[in-house]
Amino acid sequence: MTVRFTYGVRSEANQSLDAIIRFVSREELEQGEADQPIVQPQIDEALRSLFAKGLFKADAEQVKVIATLGLYPAAHIIFVGYEQGVTATGLRLAAAAAAKSLKQLQAQSVHLLLPELLIKDAAAGLGIEHAAQALTEGLLLALHVRQPLKREQSERFELKDVALVPQGDAAAASDASAWEHGIAKGLLYAEGVKLARDLTNLPGNDLTPERLAYHAEELAREHDLEIEVIDEWSAADQRMGGLLAVGQGSVNPPRMIVIHYKGDPNSNETWGLIGKGITFDTGGISLKRAEGMQEMISDMGGAAAVLGAIRVIAELKPAVNVIAVIPTAENMPSDRAFKPGDVLTMMSGHTVEVVNTDAEGRLVLADGLTTAITRGATKLVDVATLTGAVLVALGSEATGAVTNNDALFKQVHDASERAGERIWQLPAYSEFKKKIKSDAADLKNSGGRYGGTITGGLFIGHFAEGLPWVHLDIAGTSWLESSRGWEPKGATGVMVRTLVELIVHQE
Ligand code: BES
Ligand code: MN
Ligand code: ZN
Repeated sequence: MTVRFTYGVRSEANQSLDAIIRFVSREELEQGEADQPIVQPQIDEALRSLFAKGLFKADAEQVKVIATLGLYPAAHIIFVGYEQGVTATGLRLAAAAAAKSLKQLQAQSVHLLLPELLIKDAAAGLGIEHAAQALTEGLLLALHVRQPLKREQSERFELKDVALVPQGDAAAASDASAWEHGIAKGLLYAEGVKLARDLTNLPGNDLTPERLAYHAEELAREHDLEIEVIDEWSAADQRMGGLLAVGQGSVNPPRMIVIHYKGDPNSNETWGLIGKGITFDTGGISLKRAEGMQEMISDMGGAAAVLGAIRVIAELKPAVNVIAVIPTAENMPSDRAFKPGDVLTMMSGHTVEVVNTDAEGRLVLADGLTTAITRGATKLVDVATLTGAVLVALGSEATGAVTNNDALFKQVHDASERAGERIWQLPAYSEFKKKIKSDAADLKNSGGRYGGTITGGLFIGHFAEGLPWVHLDIAGTSWLESSRGWEPKGATGVMVRTLVELIVHQE
């Protein structure tokens, strides 16, 4: 079932509404009986009295549901606090808060009223299109929670019919096509994020490397994209020593997935997006402790982000070239697993001393970068659930970044601000690089606990061959213990929208 999402009241106006959402600001409630009604005189009075008693302060994301009892042609009104001068993130959060109430009410046909103040605010600030996109994303993404697999299968609550409906005189002045464009973009971006979340939430016994490749093939087929799925034999021909070593302990063989999007055949510039696709990370011979290990089904969150972004890019068709590369493997201990002390020869020819088999992501990503470069990538962004250390540094509040190119980092950071996804750059001092020097090979795969996110990042950067490169460590942001804003518990699909913003704005 797909949601119908529109701007303005439709001609078949007398449809029955389950609920309406009205963003309301403190200023509006302080005005007392103003000439402009909020929704309906008696309901407005009830809301104002709650406000007077301090029971509804119209703080950001605060929600008050009022039953209309026949006073209004919708069963419930969901008031959501809204602060003037609102940002895209503010709107996305407000819409997400409303969406959670809609779910509680099982309200599928809804109007989101756009008060005059909000329209003026949006027009003067972030722009109508961005406002519409943020509202759409907030409503849809907040409801996309993990769907459990059960004998008695229940359906996920979904919206059926949503209209953004302008109020007051601003309605006539407001640009309908800008609202519609924003809604369309929001719907597309949300689809990309949902794909990433769904893949990431899949259990490891379902999502093996071969299955991830199958999902990538489906995506490529649906959007008419060229795809290569390199199996273990072909990977051996291409000397992908990192990928093969990590995958060799599992009965489920590794894959290198390459998807080509050619939006500008005349350009020599090609983005390389590389996503870590460890479908399950036990740690291998350097086995992880049991507690929390089940969350390692999300160790392909980087791969999911890249696939989600490619899906949106393939729909928006920007005039740029992109190569998406997903090295995917299952990191298992076994008699044939790689082990500490092994020295690997990577696809680039560099050698690596394995000191910890749990530092596997950087090994597969190194070959991923080389694969992207051999296929023409000229600037590289990798996305990976790389280190527990990034959780120590930034918690779940920001994605950690390491780069060799400040200009490229600025582009990525600007994109993340437009998307409302936080990225924090870590220093890439050369001293950190010394920590991954090896006596046995060019590099070793772990520099120890301290500065772990940076040394992990710099290991990957070694394989960028001097090309502009940004590494995004999403170990803290791709999977949440509990929901917040538009992000559910479990997989968040973080970085899908940032990657799309990055690529689409470079036309
Ligand atoms: N997949 C993990 C990182 C991770 C940790 C992701 C927590 C999500 C949540 C990664 O492969 C890993 O095990 N990293 C090691 C690196 C160390 C051995 C240098 C780590 O962080 O402990
Ligand atoms: Mn690991
Ligand atoms: Zn891992």
